[in-house]
Amino acid sequence: MEKEKEWFENWFDTSFYHILYDYRNDDEAKLFMNNLIGFLNLSQGDKILDLPCGKGRHSLFLNSQGFDATGADLSVNSIMHAKQFQKEGLSFEIHDMRNPLNGKYDSIFNLFTSFGYFNQESTNIKVLENFKNALNKNGHIVVDFLNLHKVVSTLIPEQVIRKKGVDFLIKKRVTESFIIKEIDVTNNGEVHHYMEKVQALDLKKMKQFAQAAGLEIQHVFGDYELNPFDAEISDRLILIMQ
Ligand SMILES: C[S@@+](CC[C@H](N)C(=O)[O-])C[C@H]1O[C@@H](n2cnc3c(N)ncnc32)[C@H](O)[C@@H]1O
Repeated sequence: MEKEKEWFENWFDTSFYHILYDYRNDDEAKLFMNNLIGFLNLSQGDKILDLPCGKGRHSLFLNSQGFDATGADLSVNSIMHAKQFQKEGLSFEIHDMRNPLNGKYDSIFNLFTSFGYFNQESTNIKVLENFKNALNKNGHIVVDFLNLHKVVSTLIPEQVIRKKGVDFLIKKRVTESFIIKEIDVTNNGEVHHYMEKVQALDLKKMKQFAQAAGLEIQHVFGDYELNPFDAEISDRLILIMQ
């Protein structure tokens, strides 16, 4: 019997996901990447892995700035889309971040809440170990995660969002271990059910995972402008590890 798909194998492979999150766009990617390039003092030609890359918005911009970008993702549809942009210094491939990587990179970017998707906390350590093993000497890993405190304090339990003729009924709740978003999508009279289930991880937990993977968190930022992290007000929890 075929194994039932995990939530992240279903939801991110739909066009509905891309409609709902269309505000996470190229402008946001450009702002964040420009700030990271400056902060990390990246050199032209550096090899950067963007995992998971979705449709490749960060990889595309990195390539345009002279970096050798590889985007990888589990979503077949997203990678098929991204492959149309492949050229010198820009490639895309299907890869599950739970599995070891083949190449070596100067920087590895895990962006826009692409961490903590799994049922076991230990899988987070495995993912970080895979990144670490694929990192060149003096390279950096960047994990851009949500700020748990802010998510909890601003949580809207139920809302309806309408975009491009599609209705999204979104119900959010936080348990001890997970932030759960149930998403009912109504399109052309049909209702489809999806979910997002991200581990409720804070800075303390992230530090434990990094340490267990043999990494050190060197800098912590709170937004794409790279302002300092403040649990009360920051939109993001951005970790620079080495
Ligand atoms: C929130 S999206 C972020 C994508 C991209 N970083 C961006 O900023 O647009 C999360 C991505 O993780 C991918 N993903 C989920 N589980 C994965 C896994 N085990 N290995 C690789 N990619 C995965 C999804 O397909 C999706 O594209």
